[in-house]
Amino acid sequence: MYKIISCTLVVIFHVSLTTGNSPKYVYYDRNTFSSLQCDQCPPGTFVKQDCTAERSTECAPCPYRHYADQWNSDRDCQFCSAVCKELQVVKQECNSTNNRLCVCIDGFFLDVEFCLSHGECPPGSGVVQPGTPDSNTVCGECPKGTFSNVTSATAPCQRHTNCKKRGLNVARKGSSMYDTVCQEESSRSCEIDVTLCEEALFRFPDNPTNWLSVLVQRLPYTTSQQIDLIKQIYNSEEQPFYLFKLYKSQNKEYDSFKRLIQDIDVCEKGVLKHVGHLNVTVKHLVTLMQSLPGNPINKEDIKTTVKSCTRPKQILKLLSLWRNKNEGDTIKALKELKTNQLEKPLRRQMKKLGHFLNSVSMYRLYQKIILEMNGNQTQLMKLDTL
Ligand SMILES: *[C@@H]1O[C@H](CO)[C@@H](O)[C@H](O)[C@H]1NC(C)=O
Ligand SMILES: *[C@@H]1O[C@H](CO)[C@@H](O)[C@H](O)[C@H]1NC(C)=O
Ligand SMILES: *[C@@H]1O[C@H](CO)[C@@H](O)[C@H](O)[C@H]1NC(C)=O
Ligand SMILES: *[C@@H]1O[C@H](CO)[C@@H](O)[C@H](O)[C@H]1NC(C)=O
Repeated sequence: MYKIISCTLVVIFHVSLTTGNSPKYVYYDRNTFSSLQCDQCPPGTFVKQDCTAERSTECAPCPYRHYADQWNSDRDCQFCSAVCKELQVVKQECNSTNNRLCVCIDGFFLDVEFCLSHGECPPGSGVVQPGTPDSNTVCGECPKGTFSNVTSATAPCQRHTNCKKRGLNVARKGSSMYDTVCQEESSRSCEIDVTLCEEALFRFPDNPTNWLSVLVQRLPYTTSQQIDLIKQIYNSEEQPFYLFKLYKSQNKEYDSFKRLIQDIDVCEKGVLKHVGHLNVTVKHLVTLMQSLPGNPINKEDIKTTVKSCTRPKQILKLLSLWRNKNEGDTIKALKELKTNQLEKPLRRQMKKLGHFLNSVSMYRLYQKIILEMNGNQTQLMKLDTL
């Protein structure tokens, strides 16, 4: 009983292997003058002997370093490729069914014949599809709300930091090239980012000085990365403020610099004289902030500022918050302030402050500082041509 079954199985197996699934090829048998349908040989083998009317095709395994990757009627197998190309490594060694498979090394892809290095996506765009051994990197411009500040073959665009989620304020909105900069509890720290005097100095009307180049020329080479970062983050109108900060941090030791700081201090004291003695309430300050153009500072921030800053600094801090929020020109805003809603003493003082920041004494300060930054030998005129 068992014997019969196993015998049947063998027969079935034989049939399916040789006649069931195998593709055929036509062979003309010269001995019998007949045309035969022979079985092809499976991958890894070649035809050692064609079939006859009595027996099926005889296949033999491919010899060492040869392969056949298809069903075939070939008399021999193909040679495996001997070596890989430049910048390639063996991914799969040759065996009887596959040729040796070479791929470009990491970071390279095959472009027709040669391995080329994966392209890098410049700042403002990110990797959408990383390169493979067969395909180049695919870059895409960073969509709204994302950025990339690096040149990279791997880095995708990243989401802008969500300041609100962290309980922080936005100090500077992000772009496709740089991240949003958050400001820590801005209304709580009384530190002022850019003072009115610095603004007045660098925004002097009909400004003949190219502050950007003056400042950059006076900054040491070692700060070039910081300079680049400033240029990346801030628009050209704002860059002088932050370059000047950098300049200040680099020149604390020098006498001419100390004179410069003294001059600016004189100006800062003048500013305080105008606003320091004002007895203003939150309500007054809300009105003042609403009289400025652009996005107003909200009441919460005003309340916090009043709580945490001493009176002389309150108004200055709020103006600084306004400037940051609007990327605004405070000097111009003070000049164009809509004062009709303001309380009389406040109105008067804000007008005076506006005049002070556009006055002749500011012009003198401006000239002095140019001379000091430039050294006494250099002519003022020379700056115009920079
Ligand atoms: C040859 O290599 C390929 C790829 O690794 C594998 O799929 C195949 O089974 C191998 N053939 C033999 C006969 O070992
Ligand atoms: C890129 O942005 C990240 C996140 O703001 C920052 O940490 C990093 O220093 C920046 N890198 C460059 C090269 O600007
Ligand atoms: C400031 O004004 C408030 C209310 O107008 C008043 O109560 C307070 O005494 C004033 N303080 C000073 C120092 O003038
Ligand atoms: C530049 O000139 C001023 C005023 O004449 C003088 O006080 C100062 O010492 C001079 N500075 C240099 C570096 O010569």
